[in-house]
Amino acid sequence: MTAALLSDIGLLVTNDPRLGGAGEKTGELRDAALLIQDGRVAWVGASSEIPAAMLDSADVTSMRGSAVIPGFVDSHSHLVFGGDRSAEFEARMAGRPYEAGGIRSTVAATRAATDNELLARLHGFVEEMIAQGTTTIEVKSGYGLSAADEARLVRLAAMVTDEVTFLGAHVVPAEFAGRADDYLDLVVGEMLTACAPHSRWIDVFCETGAFTVEQSKRVLEAGMAAGLSPRVHASQLGPGAGVRLAVELGAASVDHCTYLDDEDVAALSGSETVATLLPGVEFSTRQPYPNARRLIDAGVTVAIACDTNPGSSFTSSMPFCIALAVREMGMTPAEAVWAATAGGAQALRRTDVGRLSPGARADLVQLKTPSYVHLAYRPGVPLISRVWKDGIPRV
Ligand code: NIG
Ligand code: FE
Repeated sequence: MTAALLSDIGLLVTNDPRLGGAGEKTGELRDAALLIQDGRVAWVGASSEIPAAMLDSADVTSMRGSAVIPGFVDSHSHLVFGGDRSAEFEARMAGRPYEAGGIRSTVAATRAATDNELLARLHGFVEEMIAQGTTTIEVKSGYGLSAADEARLVRLAAMVTDEVTFLGAHVVPAEFAGRADDYLDLVVGEMLTACAPHSRWIDVFCETGAFTVEQSKRVLEAGMAAGLSPRVHASQLGPGAGVRLAVELGAASVDHCTYLDDEDVAALSGSETVATLLPGVEFSTRQPYPNARRLIDAGVTVAIACDTNPGSSFTSSMPFCIALAVREMGMTPAEAVWAATAGGAQALRRTDVGRLSPGARADLVQLKTPSYVHLAYRPGVPLISRVWKDGIPRV
C-alpha cells in the first residue's frame, strides 16, 4: 500500500511532549509533515526535514498551512436508544430540573424499537460524529434494563466500536420499582453473563435517584470478576462517594465530576483514574459547570466527552464541548484539545489513539483554520476539513 505524506501542516498537535516545546503536553510542531503507512503514523517532523526518499515514494497531499490534530476520542456516549425527549429539554429550558427518572421513558421507547431501527440510528450517530472529527467512540448500554434488551444493546454497540460498556445499573426499571436490590441480582447475574462477552467495560450510575455507593460497588466488582474493567458515573447531580469508589477500584475514568469536594480532588490527584468532564450535560441541564481548572491544577488528568444521550446531553460535537470547556470550565484551548484527544484515550486506557507520533493509529483531523484555538474561538462553525481513520480518508 502506498504511503501518504501530508505536507505543509501549519500546526501539528502530536500530544507527544518529546516532540514539542518545553512543558507542552500537546507536543506541537510548526510547518510540519506526517507520513501515513499501513494505517499508522510512520513519521512526523519538520517540512524541511522530510527525507528525499519519502518524497519520491509517497503520495503527497498539501494541508495548505492548516492545523492537524489527533482524531477526537469521545470516551462517553449512550448511542443505542429509541424515542425522543425534546419536550423534556424544552421544559428544562423553561425552568424544570433534570431528573434521572427521565431515563425510564427512553427505556420504554428502546424496548419497543427493532434492532434495525436502533442500528440505523446508531450508524447515523457514528457518521455524524466522524464528520465532526471523532475517530474513537465509547458506547454504553443502559436503556434496555432487562437481560435480553441489555444484551441486544451491547451486541449492537459492538457493531460500531470495540469500546462497549455494559451499563445495566443505569436506573432501576419501572417493573422493579422499590426493589433495587432484586434488580441488581439480575444485573450481576443473568444480565452480566449475557452482556460480558460483548463488552469491555462495566459502568454504574452512582447517584441519588440511581444507585448507592454500596450497590455501585457490588455491580463494579461483579463486572470485574467477569473480566470487565470499571468506569463510573458519579457526582453529576450532587456530591457523593462515587468518585472515591472509582479511585478505590482503580477505574479508568469517573465521569461527570460536577460536584467535587477537596477529598475527591485529592483522591483523584494521587490516582490513575481520569476525571471525564461532560460539559454538554451542564449546557443542557442548566447545572453549574465542573471546575476543570481546579482539577488540572491539582494534577488530575482531565478528559472531555460528549455524553451523547437523549436526556442530559444531546450533542455529538466534540468541538462544541471544547468551546464549552474553554468558556465555562477554565481550560486553555490547548488543555481542552488535549483532554478531547489524549485525555479520552487515557480514559479508555488506550495508547494507540489520541496522539500523532510514530506507531499511533493514523486517526487525524485537518481543520479549516491555522490553529486549534479556533475550535473555541469560532463556536458552532463547522471547522473540520478532512478526517482520516486508520489512514483512510473518511470525510
Ligand atoms: O450520563 N447520568 C446518567 N446517564 C446519562 C443520562 C441519561 C438520560 O437522561 O437519559 C448521563 O447523563
Ligand atoms: Fe452518561
